[in-house]
Amino acid sequence: MEDTPHVMMAGEGALALALDMGMEKENLLTEDSEKAWKKWLEKSQYKPIINIENHDTIGLLAIDDNGDIAGACTTSGLAYKMNGRVGDSPIIGSGLYVDNAVGGAVCTGLGEEVIKSVASFLAVEKMRDGASPQEACQIAIDRIMEKSPHYKDFQVGIIALNKSGEIGSYAIHPYFNYAHHTVQENVLIDSKSAL
Ligand code: GLY
Repeated sequence: MEDTPHVMMAGEGALALALDMGMEKENLLTEDSEKAWKKWLEKSQYKPIINIENHDTIGLLAIDDNGDIAGACTTSGLAYKMNGRVGDSPIIGSGLYVDNAVGGAVCTGLGEEVIKSVASFLAVEKMRDGASPQEACQIAIDRIMEKSPHYKDFQVGIIALNKSGEIGSYAIHPYFNYAHHTVQENVLIDSKSAL
């Protein structure tokens, strides 16, 4: 965003830009991942198993002493996907959204369902309208569940932070947890869930 007039680059053009900017192309496939993929190929089922993570999405929201908010979302995406599949993490408003005037939200879980509800944008807009981060997370997860009758078959979790430093989280299924780190404490919190 700082070096081009664009917000998002993809495919061959993104690769060419990265190489131009001095990044090196690397093969990130480990022996263990290759073995797991070959085992998956035996059945080739495109079906997530709840709480058996087949993605490595990590979301982060931070606020400093001035009340400035930052967010990050990093992932290699869902494992065993079709070639060309785009998940929620790189799509601003789906996997991650931050408005420094209001707050931020970040999602993990099955990206297709997060994209359909533009869930992190929804949570931030709800906070803009006066919802607490906890209420905003619940509204976003409720929306995802309303939109998909198969919500019992997949997991989505969301965390949110507002300008006052208040936090919230919610998930479809239990066992979604997140770390809360402040000057005073560093704790792992089990999120509330709909089921
Ligand atoms: N949330 C990560 C993905 O679905 O790609």
